[in-house]
Amino acid sequence: MTFREAFVTGSARLAAGPVATETPDLDARVLLGHVAGLSHASLLARWPEALDPALWLAFEAALDRRSAGEPVAWITGVKEFLGMDFEVGPGLLVPRADTETLVEAALSVLPGPRVVDVCTGTGCVAVGLATLAPRPLEVWAADLSPLAVETARRNAERLVPPGRGVTVVASDLLTALPGPWDLVVSNPPYLTTEETEDRIRAGWREPSLALDGGDDGLALIRRLVAEGVPRLAPGGWLLVEAAGPQRPEIQRLFASAGLVDLRVWADLAGVERVVGGRLPSPSQNRNPRTDESFRTAWGPRGSMRYNSRLLSSTSVKAR
Ligand SMILES: C[S@@+](CC[C@H](N)C(=O)[O-])C[C@H]1O[C@@H](n2cnc3c(N)ncnc32)[C@H](O)[C@@H]1O
Repeated sequence: MTFREAFVTGSARLAAGPVATETPDLDARVLLGHVAGLSHASLLARWPEALDPALWLAFEAALDRRSAGEPVAWITGVKEFLGMDFEVGPGLLVPRADTETLVEAALSVLPGPRVVDVCTGTGCVAVGLATLAPRPLEVWAADLSPLAVETARRNAERLVPPGRGVTVVASDLLTALPGPWDLVVSNPPYLTTEETEDRIRAGWREPSLALDGGDDGLALIRRLVAEGVPRLAPGGWLLVEAAGPQRPEIQRLFASAGLVDLRVWADLAGVERVVGGRLPSPSQNRNPRTDESFRTAWGPRGSMRYNSRLLSSTSVKAR
């Protein structure tokens, strides 16, 4: 069997598998390249050559895992996020491109160095912030899952440049992290329990701890607002990723908790993805820490790539 024949067979097997993938060609190509240790270009160059039987067995094992619903990134062990290769594997949420919006939004408001990423998973948001900020930050990251904490630590050690760093701890939201924080950022579980169960029935394998946000998907976000706002330094920001339709209720929660300068950022598909709000300074209408001069000191510089769009900057009143 040639590489090309293996690819065609693999793709057909994925298309007909118990958990059908929407991208059987792409998945088969990535998995074949992974087991053969070949880049896309090298794989195409080897297309007419015979495939070693041991490689075919390894490819079949990868196809079986994919057909059973495992994400491709769990099988390859790596997922690209903000141009960096994050270690990921069974039991962890695979970083999504949409979440790059959260990092970009956070960098655009960054009011100071004390930053915490809650629900860090692989650590992609924390590592992105620590790496891309124009100056070294004091970045902390927290997750309830011991597997996530270990993986985020390894990703931070491998990816964050010297002189910068991320401290990863086990914590139920902010319980172990009293602050004060200049920035609290989070991509918490925000699917409803029903949506989570539907996805698991459809073959999703990512853990419900990473997906399930309760009856309306907002249980963790409600707790984050209640526990996070008191831990913000004056002028500090809270930013959360969520689903577009959850935006009005999240803004209402933010406003009720006293946050101002409420903002919404859209992802690349134009979906409202990130909601942010700032704690005002007690004695000032206008907070010097978020003045242009201060933000320029901490905010993005030069080559930072901006994909996300600030959709709105509103003053929303609590109902
Ligand atoms: C949607 S995933 C986000 C992972 C990562 N930040 C990302 O964007 O890829 C949510 C994460 O929250 C963690 N988590 C769930 N409940 C938590 C809690 N009460 N406290 C801390 N982390 C929690 C899960 O283990 C999971 O890693």
